[in-house]
Amino acid sequence: MTGAPQSRVVAILAAGIGSRMRSETPKVLHPVGGRPMLSWVLDAARGAGCDRILAVVGHGAEQVRAALDAPDITWVEQREQLGTGHALAQVARELDGDGVIIVLSGDVPLVRPATLAALADAAAGGWGSMAVADLDQPGSLGRVLDRDGGALDRIVEAADASDEELAISTVNAGLYCLPYPQIFERLAALTPDNAKGELYLTDALGAAAADGDRISLVQLADPGEAMGINTRVDQSRVHRRLLERKLRRLQMHGVTLLDPDRIQVEPGVEIGADTTVEADVSLSGSTRIGRRCVLRQGAWIRDSIIADDVTIEPYSVLDGAQVGDGCSVGPFARLRPGTVLEEGSKVGNFVEVKKSTLGPGVKASHLAYLGDATIGPGANIGAGTITCNYDGQRKHPTEIGAGAFIGSDTMLVAPVKIGDGATTGAGSAITKDVPSGALAIERSRQRNVEGWVERRQKRESSED
Ligand code: UD1
Ligand code: MG
Repeated sequence: MTGAPQSRVVAILAAGIGSRMRSETPKVLHPVGGRPMLSWVLDAARGAGCDRILAVVGHGAEQVRAALDAPDITWVEQREQLGTGHALAQVARELDGDGVIIVLSGDVPLVRPATLAALADAAAGGWGSMAVADLDQPGSLGRVLDRDGGALDRIVEAADASDEELAISTVNAGLYCLPYPQIFERLAALTPDNAKGELYLTDALGAAAADGDRISLVQLADPGEAMGINTRVDQSRVHRRLLERKLRRLQMHGVTLLDPDRIQVEPGVEIGADTTVEADVSLSGSTRIGRRCVLRQGAWIRDSIIADDVTIEPYSVLDGAQVGDGCSVGPFARLRPGTVLEEGSKVGNFVEVKKSTLGPGVKASHLAYLGDATIGPGANIGAGTITCNYDGQRKHPTEIGAGAFIGSDTMLVAPVKIGDGATTGAGSAITKDVPSGALAIERSRQRNVEGWVERRQKRESSED
């Protein structure tokens, strides 16, 4: 039989302590590809059309629930973490009658929706099914011993395996399709006589196979899908794998990535065709990049929207910023949340912008802090300009009109308004509004003392 899974019920085992992570955070909340590992498994279940998700949680249950709660999830508590067999036994109370259930592991995040359908199809030809893969580094995963015809004989956990068994490269991916209530009857008979002292789900499958039930092995087309996360080393491998999938997809959609091994692009990020991303760039969160952009070395961009034809020069940091068509940013610029750069504006080196809008064509080319400011089209912000937006208690706004020219080293003490086309003299501390077209200058008049240097030298030599 082929097609959609017969079963629309999925159980996800996610209650384990994950002691090998050595962490206070529940294992399934540790991130890969920018999101908790469990969220990937939930998405695979949704992608396969499962309409009932039974998520077994226990260790840090409240934290897991708070992070990932959704209307389609039924949270099932496993009070004590006695092993995967005990975890699956908890969902029995949620199921009536008989049927098949897809079982996934919360620490196997690369699982694809198509695998769930393949498991259901394979299970239809026997008692149940499970996914296997051949891995170069089978590590801590269970080794699978099979029989002729692609059926399970038994699974040996790495902790219980002999050297000979450890040399087997076929692993249990921790993804199954199993019949109920039969599986629950098998689970009820488990004993914890093994290296970890746990009730192993895998032993229940071995027992069924020993009694002649056929458990079909589904070979994963992409063996990477079987990578489970038990340690932080596994976590980094899975993370890299997720990024590789994403980077390959971007390349196939016309994005130039000449050195993909040195680029971090989280799977949720979008990039338009003919954009070039140089080495050591990191793109994360909900970032969207348009077409024909150039992101130069070391740009770090999170939750930002960048339009078309934008250049981000090296080592710029953008967080929660919006950048319009044709803008140029950096090198070494910092755009903080609430920054909006409208079309063709430019933010140069060592400029920090926070919660400010720079209108079309505005230039702030060097060394400035612009916070809580609204800047009209075509204004020029001189080097060293600072919006003094904080009085120690509250933040205040600065408004700069269209075409204004802010002289170098101007302090704009907010709240303050600079009118359209106005100019401020370099080095001025502006505390009062400036009318349109006016020059505001606030500094002491320069005095030149003729011959002062020569007189000083004479005085000093006579004192010797
Ligand atoms: C398990 C399998 C192993 C397989 C691997 C795939 C068993 C005995 N072994 O080993 O054959 O290769 O997964 O990744 O099943 N969990 C609970 N409650 C518990 C214990 C675990 O919900 O009491 C959850 C964990 O949160 C985790 C999943 O079950 O998401 C797997 O548990 P884990 O302890 O990681 O098992 P592995 O040693 O990886
Ligand atoms: Mg595991």
